[in-house]
Amino acid sequence: MCGIVGYVGDKEAAPILVAGLCNLQYRGYDSAGVALCSADGVRTLKCVGSPENLIPKLASCAVCSALCGVGTTRWATHGKPDVVNAHPHSCGRFHVVHNGIIENEKALKEEYFPNTEFLSQTDTEVIARLLQKFCENNTSICEAIQRLVGVLRGSYALGIVDGERPDVLYAVKNKSPLLIGCGEGFNMLGSDTVAMISHTDKFYEICDREYAVITADDFKIYSSNGKEVRREAFVVACDISDCTKGDYAHFMLKEIEEQPRVIRQILSCYCDETGKVNIDNEIIGKLTHSDRIYIIASGTSYNAGLVGKYYFEKICSKPVDVCMAGEFAYNMPPISQSPVFIFVSQSGETADCISVLSKIKELGFASVAITNCEVSTIFREADHTLLIHAGREIAVASTKSYTAQVAVFALLASALNEKYSKLIAKDLSLAADAMEKACSRKEEYREVAHEYLLNQQSCFYIGRGIDYYACLEAALKLKEIAYIHTGGYAASELKHGSIALIEQGTPVFALSTQKITSLHMLSNIEEVKARGGKVLCISSCQSDDEDCLSIECAAELLSPLVSVIPAQYFAYYAALERGCDIDRPRNLAKAVTVE
Ligand code: G6P
Repeated sequence: MCGIVGYVGDKEAAPILVAGLCNLQYRGYDSAGVALCSADGVRTLKCVGSPENLIPKLASCAVCSALCGVGTTRWATHGKPDVVNAHPHSCGRFHVVHNGIIENEKALKEEYFPNTEFLSQTDTEVIARLLQKFCENNTSICEAIQRLVGVLRGSYALGIVDGERPDVLYAVKNKSPLLIGCGEGFNMLGSDTVAMISHTDKFYEICDREYAVITADDFKIYSSNGKEVRREAFVVACDISDCTKGDYAHFMLKEIEEQPRVIRQILSCYCDETGKVNIDNEIIGKLTHSDRIYIIASGTSYNAGLVGKYYFEKICSKPVDVCMAGEFAYNMPPISQSPVFIFVSQSGETADCISVLSKIKELGFASVAITNCEVSTIFREADHTLLIHAGREIAVASTKSYTAQVAVFALLASALNEKYSKLIAKDLSLAADAMEKACSRKEEYREVAHEYLLNQQSCFYIGRGIDYYACLEAALKLKEIAYIHTGGYAASELKHGSIALIEQGTPVFALSTQKITSLHMLSNIEEVKARGGKVLCISSCQSDDEDCLSIECAAELLSPLVSVIPAQYFAYYAALERGCDIDRPRNLAKAVTVE
């Protein structure tokens, strides 16, 4: 899994490639590399860790003035993240960067290279070797690429340079995104617009099984049988402040504090001046007539989907299944008669979601995407889309996208019930105010993180109903960035096993924002305290107890929007105190583009 960038033009390619790779680090950052082409040949440079680590190597490199090249930032799928496995992978003339997974790598090696010792453990090296092989006997590179597309199985976005044509980039793609960016005197290649956005706002999409031949002043896209295809350009405007931290120490902190503004932005996009919810009638019609909603998502988006389920069930009595995308794809339950599938994905590129989406489309079921990215596969492929308008989220741990997804679910469910559709705008606006107040108390949260989480190896979040769903997201944050093993539990379930893990001083955060369960929560808290647990109750009731943190929630249903905020800060400050890389936690990537 990787982020790819390529450049061919009238400027030095190396700094452009490294800057593009830095912007693509959300796709992985365990190693990086570039291949730079000049008349003297192709030079590859690789490093472990962030693409920034390429900079000193480039400074002492003679081909720094190359005008053409490709690069990647990698999240290891095959082989550990070291320099040997880092891309580009080379064979003879060809140097290849790859995002995706070649599923028939073993079979290809056996068929074409039975006696060859491969240098790396990757599934990419075989691609470079195949290209070299297919170009034997004066076969053109385009014919070789067509043959390559014929034999490769799996997902791939490839950037290729050829030592014999140092002024050309080649691109091939199947199931992993790849775009061409165009400008005056140059053309680029990238997994995402963000790799190219400082140079151009004009992009062309390469579709599955197509390839492109790109020079400084022209490019052509071909289908896998070599027929040229025409493609319309699209323009993407980028708010550059979205891509910089400003005065914040970390993107995560910036994004936490943007949340009230994002909720207000969502309101202005989905509600009219009278507060009435305005959502595409076709979506409302399909949901109204559906007999069951299936929410498909991964990670934080899955946790937001659980809150969405609560809304559909409580607000409009719709039965909902929330399914982990990776599980659903190959373990599909019997589907109801007239379902609607809602795909929740911040990036719109999560491979597991895409896989389910294509399966349910084949079955003829309706789909709605809730996403943050207009230029994404899920946005393009779903029948309908609802944008969450969160602005670019850069920190790997999702914060503002979670609350934005929850808010969009609240609006969508309310739009199906007249009674709620008149109230929701006001409630969301009050929730945004409450979120702002919560953010203003970050120093308190820093103290809590210090007092409860310093030197802790494990932690619990407990809650009931919608609070339980919020606990799952709160726990995920602490795991992701502070590396503290944290469980989110239904408070009622704890005593059926997991309470065995509570010891003297074990930190337990108890979320209690619902009147109907508040008394039961008090009992559950006592049960934990009796076993030595160090409890902090995060409650919507005013309390002076020192082990209670009061939060304001306008409407009970919207409490996850507010209760998650202290939890996000706890994770942030715990990670800060432990010296963790907050925006780029170990082993993770923001967009998981492989199944
Ligand atoms: C990765 C990220 C998570 C994210 C999940 C789903 O695992 O690290 O933060 O929640 O993917 O991503 P999506 O873009 O589909 O919401």
